[in-house]
Amino acid sequence: MRTMRKTFLPFALPSISEEAIEEVAAVLRSGWVTSGPKVKQFEKEFAEFVGASQAIALNSATAGLHLALEAIGLTDEDAVITSSVTFTASAEVICYFGALPLLTDVDPIHNIMTPKTLLDLINRECSWNGKILTHNATGKKIRALIPVHLAGYTCDMESLIEIADRYNLYVIEDAAHAFPAIHKNRMIGVWGDFTVFSFYATKGITTGEGGMVTTNHSELADRIRLMRLHGINRDSYNRPGWYYEVVEAGFKYNMADIAAAIGIVQLHEANGFWARREEIALRYNLAFSDLVGVKLPLPDEQGRHSWHLYRIEIDPKIAKIGRDSLAEELKERNIGTSLHFIPIFEHPYYKKNYNFNRENFPNACRMYEKALSLPLFAGMTDEDVNDVMSAVKELLG
Ligand SMILES: Cc1ncc(COP(=O)(O)O)c(C=O)c1O
Repeated sequence: MRTMRKTFLPFALPSISEEAIEEVAAVLRSGWVTSGPKVKQFEKEFAEFVGASQAIALNSATAGLHLALEAIGLTDEDAVITSSVTFTASAEVICYFGALPLLTDVDPIHNIMTPKTLLDLINRECSWNGKILTHNATGKKIRALIPVHLAGYTCDMESLIEIADRYNLYVIEDAAHAFPAIHKNRMIGVWGDFTVFSFYATKGITTGEGGMVTTNHSELADRIRLMRLHGINRDSYNRPGWYYEVVEAGFKYNMADIAAAIGIVQLHEANGFWARREEIALRYNLAFSDLVGVKLPLPDEQGRHSWHLYRIEIDPKIAKIGRDSLAEELKERNIGTSLHFIPIFEHPYYKKNYNFNRENFPNACRMYEKALSLPLFAGMTDEDVNDVMSAVKELLG
């Protein structure tokens, strides 16, 4: 019998507990709703959770990526390397400075930047004079690397950091998908110079909108704190009187206490959310293991996959139906899906301004034809999970 749900199952939904709602209500009643004690507490608890010395709360991960690049003093004479398979945020922040975004291809299994895809780019397009890595075609100086832990599968941080050290590059991890993820016994949050997390609605934990930067560089952390609130040298919660000084032209990127109140509760619930996500992902893997022409996501053998997304790949030559038909049929059965991601070089803005050569991205191009994300979130009921499994097996089995 054809699986048909009565209600639509989105591919992702946040899980908000009554406790989180009550904490927000308490903040609303307290008279202090913007950045204040809740933000401080969230930062402290988040830093402890991942084991970082500094955590700076912001109103998005995009703000975090922007401020990390600002803190290292990026200019329009510079370039930054990121992955071709990511959300535009990882690349757009480079463009904010007039700097050049350079894209690596991804590996064919997890679709992430690897030491090999990084070195392919460096060897093909850059030269090293013993001090500076320069982009040959533009003369721009490569300053940083933004690896992306796509779906929550962690990049090989040891090797990427080793390459970054060799070429004097900062490492700014885009960990929007990677909370709570572990790489070789250490949490994502302590590896690179900066790690940037997202608390957007569908992420491992949410604050509605929000982000966090962790770092062990205390001076650069101070710079981010300064620039997140207009370049004012004291935050308003701690300001004793009316006097303050603007020492830079900063930004308006602070997190509000309303959001931090949700974040604190979500942080306490994070391991439970993760366990449920993993349980669902492993059940899917078991259920789909004998489908022909379907590549399933692998657990992280050396750490902990955050299971932010459950991405499969459909090989149109072997599978019963192709990716687009599968998405369409699932939608007809009231099951939502998504695609992570349209490669950066396929978007009109990047095409118009940077003229990337698609031939340099064979794996990203293949991925784009095949990938599909199925519903995965902590609040899915067993019935939801069974509906997805039955429908996918009906269509591809
Ligand atoms: C890989 C990646 N990086 C960055 C971001 C930006 O996060 P935010 O919406 O918190 O700015 C997202 C958001 O979806 C993302 O998927």
